[in-house]
Amino acid sequence: MPFHLVDHPIAQDALVALRDTSTRASHFRRLAHRVGLIVATEATRDLATRATTVQTPLEQTTGQTVAADVVIVAVLRAGLSLIDPVLDLLPGARIGHIGLKRDEQTAKPARYSVHLPEGLADSTVLLVDPMLATGGSAVMAIDVLKEAGAQDIRLLCIVAAPEGVQALERAHPDVAVFSSALDRELNGRKFIVPGLGDFGDRLYGTA
Ligand code: PRP
Ligand code: URA
Repeated sequence: MPFHLVDHPIAQDALVALRDTSTRASHFRRLAHRVGLIVATEATRDLATRATTVQTPLEQTTGQTVAADVVIVAVLRAGLSLIDPVLDLLPGARIGHIGLKRDEQTAKPARYSVHLPEGLADSTVLLVDPMLATGGSAVMAIDVLKEAGAQDIRLLCIVAAPEGVQALERAHPDVAVFSSALDRELNGRKFIVPGLGDFGDRLYGTA
């Protein structure tokens, strides 16, 4: 499974502010959007294109348009923050949702809702979830996507832990991961350290 560290300076700058415990929810949302744009740009670098012609004010010329059918699938809740940045790049993308919640004691995910568009077998699926900690949620979400027929799946995150990357490598070696950070480790409560805390709570101010 290829792991792509997205170390663009603007993403790294925003990541510092995302990690900062004093950053409030409204700013946190803007920063997540900014990092999401950059991670999504990297994750779509090899999308299929088709040749086209266009008439400029001066002459006819050729160019490339995106030919891939792209589906964004957000893991609730935190993944909602990454839908809009991907739509900024690909406004025609269709959208799915997978509701998962980690148990606070065991850190195991439980599934509470799935809504996916049709035709995933022929689509590029961008699975968006900003935190890859144990990898349990990502593995479960990808299981759901593959059961629905998806074959080209990329995971877009903001912070990943080595434990999560390894879990994904074991379960789904075909899925590429794009993340703006690969942190040191998980703590005893299975939170990423140094990390940025509970992304969903910081995004929505529910902590
Ligand atoms: C967080 C995060 C991931 C998951 C990562 O969601 O957004 O989905 O934890 O942890 P894992 O790799 O160990 O599975 P959470 O379950 O806290 O739900 P929330 O987004 O609704 O807060
Ligand atoms: N989910 C989060 O939001 N943060 C972590 O550090 C781990 C899981």
